[in-house]
Amino acid sequence: MSADTQKQAAGLAAIDHIESGMKVGLGTGSTAAWFVKAVADAVRDGLKLTLVSTSNQTTHLAQSLGLEIKDINDVGKLDVCVDGADEIGSGLALIKGGGGALLREKLIWEMADRCIVIADAAKHVATLGAFALPIEVEPFAYKGTINRICDVLSEFDIAKLPVLRKKGGESFVTDGGNLIFDVPCGAILDPSGLASALKATTGVVDHGLFLDLADVALIGTDSGVDILHP
Ligand code: A5P
Repeated sequence: MSADTQKQAAGLAAIDHIESGMKVGLGTGSTAAWFVKAVADAVRDGLKLTLVSTSNQTTHLAQSLGLEIKDINDVGKLDVCVDGADEIGSGLALIKGGGGALLREKLIWEMADRCIVIADAAKHVATLGAFALPIEVEPFAYKGTINRICDVLSEFDIAKLPVLRKKGGESFVTDGGNLIFDVPCGAILDPSGLASALKATTGVVDHGLFLDLADVALIGTDSGVDILHP
């Protein structure tokens, strides 16, 4: 089964966790897009939902499918958020941000009672870090921020340089107007320590380590959907 078929299976399975009346956060990426389509079908069939989005990309997709996206500040706490991931490690520790939406994703995840991660089987890994860790950085004085990030990385025995993300030859700019630097860490042996140290670095807006946030993972496989808990 292809990765896309597995993503579809996971994305569609998540609709079983959604009930009428819920406030729902819509994730970003190709797996989350399958969930957004499932939501659009369910709403067309009569399900009543209040929806917020984690990115402009998802907002455009949802609106193109006839869904109304509310401002998170008008909605407040969410019942559930459903979103993809780039890696899912032990305890459902995640790397996210491959699509560049990590900050708004984390803001929405932190407002949800329950976070459901959906992914294809290749995303499930023993140790986080083969996927380059995205770090969102304030553009002003970013070179100083990168020096501080390198100091943090060396404290964690990560001897790799952050790489500025580009799109179409230009610096990639997030929905919030920030830059992303990707760090090909290799094995991240202390995700919690690294997450805290990056978060405490001046100029770092946020990073793609999502720890202690996911409540359940729905993993599309060749034979169906596996359900994982932390
Ligand atoms: C977006 O910023 C990311 O966090 C995505 O959720 C992640 O990259 C997974 O994307 P796919 O579902 O496209 O693999």
